[in-house]
Amino acid sequence: MKIMVINGPNLNMLGIREPAIYGKTTYNDLCALIKEHCRQNHIDVELYQSNHEGDLVDKIQSTYNTFDGIVINPGAYTHTSIAILDAVKAVGVPTVEVHISDVDSREPFRSVSYIRFACEKTISGRGLQGYIDAIDYLVNKKGNEL
Ligand code: DQA
Repeated sequence: MKIMVINGPNLNMLGIREPAIYGKTTYNDLCALIKEHCRQNHIDVELYQSNHEGDLVDKIQSTYNTFDGIVINPGAYTHTSIAILDAVKAVGVPTVEVHISDVDSREPFRSVSYIRFACEKTISGRGLQGYIDAIDYLVNKKGNEL
C-alpha cells in the first residue's frame, strides 16, 4: 500500500500561521506523526509540500500507476484550482481531501472546493488527525477490495 500525502501553499508554515485556527504543531511534527502512523501500519508513504500550483500538479501526475491513494490538503488552491482538480481526475488514483480547519464554518469562499469533485471523501475540521483518518480510509478501502 503506497500513499502520497500532498500539502499545498502555506502548510509549511504550520505552527506559525494563525495558531488559533491551525494549532501550534509544525509541518515537521505533522510529517513525523504521519510517518510514525504509516510505519506502525506497514504503509509506504511519501510526503510532499509545495507553495506552487504547477509543482502540485506534477506531484499528483507522478502518482499515476505507482500509488494506491492520495491524501491532499491543497490549502488555498482548494478554492481556486481547476488544474489540481484535473490532475486528480487524470491519474484516477483514489483521493481524499483534507482540511485542518472546518472550512464550511469559515468565510463563504472557503466552502467552495474544486478538488472535491474528484475526491472520494472530504475530511475537514479534525485538525492533524484528519490526515491519519484519510490514510486509514484509503487503507481500509483497499483492504475491502482485496
Ligand atoms: C486549509 C483551509 C484553506 O481554506 C486555507 O487556505 C489553507 C488551509 C485547512 O487545512 O484548513 O491554507 O486547507
